[in-house]
Amino acid sequence: MQKLDKLYEGKAKKLYATDDPGVLWVEYMNQATAGNGAKKAQIEGKGSLNNRITSVLFDLLAARGVDSHFVRRISDTEQLVRAMDMYPLEIIMRNTAAGSFAKRYGVEEGTELKQPILEFCYKSDDLGDPFINDDGIVALGLASKEELDEISRQARAVNDALRDIFSKIDVQLVDFKIEEGKTSDGTILLADEITPDTCRLWDLRDGSGQIEHLDKDLFRRDLGNIIPAYEEILDRLEALADAEGVARRVTLA
Ligand code: TMP
Repeated sequence: MQKLDKLYEGKAKKLYATDDPGVLWVEYMNQATAGNGAKKAQIEGKGSLNNRITSVLFDLLAARGVDSHFVRRISDTEQLVRAMDMYPLEIIMRNTAAGSFAKRYGVEEGTELKQPILEFCYKSDDLGDPFINDDGIVALGLASKEELDEISRQARAVNDALRDIFSKIDVQLVDFKIEEGKTSDGTILLADEITPDTCRLWDLRDGSGQIEHLDKDLFRRDLGNIIPAYEEILDRLEALADAEGVARRVTLA
């Protein structure tokens, strides 16, 4: 597989074309951002950790019947994925009140929700990714009603599978953000990344009674170094994948 022109550079990843039009080459960067880019830092090792975390998670999800765009990991910081037409949506699932939800509704962080909540934001840096509901998505033509039904079904299936995965490594899956896209043959699939940048993960092994963040809130809220936390998540996920005998899609040069 040959790496060709750069197609896109986001806040945490670069995307390149390859000699196969159905496959893209993703490079994970060390950059960390928060508040729509208002806070920025280079954190050595972050790109590699997120590349490896999202790869093992896509393998663990596949073993649970949840497909994604992931093809295989090809280096510490790079992976191949299927080319997708992305929906301009941030798809957020919440199991526990935290972050913007806790603030918006005046609920204490850590309050268990009686059922998972599926939320959407319209992806637009200029507008600050505003909240949007199902009718708004269909009315603006961001996705059809049928596509949105499938996206929502998949988001809930991803949540069920991720909750199972994280409960097995003693981590509370508080909330997370995913993105979805459509391949050239019209298949809707989970895409982008699932990492501690895009999930809230609280340690259940800690036992202190305090919230022990193993995610990007350490950076967003100036609570400490993210690297040991991300390493802990990777180590536990790798151990789980080994214990479950999950097929790993990795070919290192
Ligand atoms: P929020 O509480 O700030 O709305 O975030 C909910 C979850 O979604 C949290 O796990 C962080 C993740 N998230 C992203 O990954 N990217 C984003 O741009 C936003 C707003 C949230």
